This record gives sequence, structure tokens and C-alpha cells, in this order.
Amino acid sequence: MNKDFLSVSDFNKADVMHLIRLAIAMKNQTSWKTAWDENYANGYSKSHDIKGRDKHLSLIFDKPSLRTRVSFERAMQKLGGSSTFLSKDEIQIGKREEIKDVARTLSKMTDVIAIRTTSHNDLKEFANFSTVPVINALSDLEHPCQALADLMTIYEKFGKLDDVNFTYLGDANNVSNSLAIASSLVGMSFTFCGPIEFSLNDIIIDQCHKLNSDSLQIVDDPSLAVKDADVLYTDVWASMGDETSIEERRPLFLPYQLNSDLLNITNKKQFIMHCLPAKRGNEITDEVIESENSIVFQQAENRLWIQEAIMNKLINRY
Ligand code: CP
Ligand code: NVA
Repeated sequence: MNKDFLSVSDFNKADVMHLIRLAIAMKNQTSWKTAWDENYANGYSKSHDIKGRDKHLSLIFDKPSLRTRVSFERAMQKLGGSSTFLSKDEIQIGKREEIKDVARTLSKMTDVIAIRTTSHNDLKEFANFSTVPVINALSDLEHPCQALADLMTIYEKFGKLDDVNFTYLGDANNVSNSLAIASSLVGMSFTFCGPIEFSLNDIIIDQCHKLNSDSLQIVDDPSLAVKDADVLYTDVWASMGDETSIEERRPLFLPYQLNSDLLNITNKKQFIMHCLPAKRGNEITDEVIESENSIVFQQAENRLWIQEAIMNKLINRY
């Protein structure tokens, strides 16, 4: 297995399904062995356990966070370990010190490192120099922990991932990239629908097609994209760092807003998802995010459980 978790594609389908089952077992406080038994059937070795006693997590965050920071810190505490949070101003990577020096220093003092930064290339450079596992806590390219928490949430609702029709509306960003790759990996149908100027890029499309030629669809018309969907997902129209462009983006994105008119196109029960934070009145209306089919806080909670499972796997290297 890969040392790091920088992209959803660092795991294979069996890894992802195992992590989801393990996270659900931990959440439901059932014996972790239940998850392990299924896992064993998939050919995993018997050698791993849930353990993080005395392990230490370093968090390096260049950007704001609520869910990711708290869920990582709490997950490590639940595993029996501890954590240190390091903000942009403290380390000043690239200014006070080079990435490769920070990576090698922290590797001597810590067992796993979670990084939230703009540049995915910086993340890769850091991971190359780190001797301990590095986890992508959000980059410009991907948000893989979010995607696995989202798959876990869908699995909780449907008891399966294949045969689920998932539609993402809005901006092709770190979240949609990871969700598109994750869907292709596990065989879930993923429909992207957003302004052509902000659509999925060719690298992500190729990556999805290589994993599964049938999973990804790109649809222009929002009414067609939502018609057969079981799950509707959206994220902000301008990600952290791009917020100043929101006024010029709004007219382009407005047709893709998750609102009750769009939901009324079908009578089907459709779950509403959003990674949060949300800009109500932009990508989603207050009415829709507060509706009974909204599962946004279940998603938020699942960050905790899936990251506990991810760190357990990476630290214990099974
Ligand atoms: N969804 C998510 O990553 O939230 P934060 O930015 O608050 O961590
Ligand atoms: N796409 C958003 C996700 C926030 C969790 C951003 O990068 O700001």
C-alpha cells in the first residue's frame, strides 16, 4: 500500500470498502472485529488492530478549517494518541524554512502528518521527504478525506455504493475531483453538472475513465442531471482563495443552484449533501439545506470516524 493518502486513488476499492466498514463499526460501537471479519474475507492479513497509543499527529494548516481540524484532533485522541496544530504563521513553509526540512524534522517527532495547503505539488514534495504517512487535509486538487466520509454516509443510507446515482452540481473543485475519482473506484454512478468553463478537467476525467469506463457522466442540463439522482451534492462556487471571483461567477452558476424548483423535477426521495461550509443563497438555498432529506451533518460527523480508520490504517501500515 502507499505510505501516504494524498489522493483517493492512493487506495484501491478493497481498501476503501474496508475503511468504510471499519469506520461504521467504530461509529456504531460494534466490535471492530465485525469489520475485520468482512475484511478478512477480502484477503487482508490478520495482523492489524485498532491502535494509536502514544502516536502523535501533526496538523499543518495554511487555510481555515472547522471540521477537518477538529475531526483529526479528536480522531487521534480516540485512537489513544495526541496531536499538535501548526498554523501557516508558525511554520512559514517556504519563507522561514524549506518544505524538505520541515518534512524531515517532523518525521523525527511525529507518526503521521495531515496537511491543508493550496498547492498539491507542495503536498507531494512534502510527502516525498517525509518518512511518516502524510494525509491530504485539502489541497487545490483533492479533498480525499471528505470524499471517503461522503461515501461512508451514502453507504450508511443505501447499504451499498454501486447502483447509487450521485449528481454533483456546481464548481469542479477539490471536492468534486475526489468524489469523481472515489465514485469510479467503487463503481458508483457520478454525474457532474456545472458551467462548462468550470467543468472537470481532462486529467481527472482520464483518471476516472481508467478506473471505470462507466461511472462518470458530464451533463449540461441541470434538470436532466437531477432527474434520476439518488443523491444531490454541491459545494461553494468559489473555493478558499478564490472568493473574490464570486460576483462574476454567480450568474454562470445560478442555473445549478440546489433549490426547491430543481428538487421538484422529480418525486423521488433524494438525499442532499454538502461538504460545508455552505454559502446559503448561492450554491444551495436555506430551505434545501434545512430540508428533511439533508444529511450534511451526518457527513460532517463521518469525517471523524473515517479519519480515525484512515490514520489507524496508515500508522499501522496494513
Ligand atoms: N468540509 C471541510 O473540510 O470543512 P472545513 O473546511 O471546516 O475543515
Ligand atoms: N471546495 C472548498 C471545500 C471546503 C471544505 C474549498 O476548497 O474551499
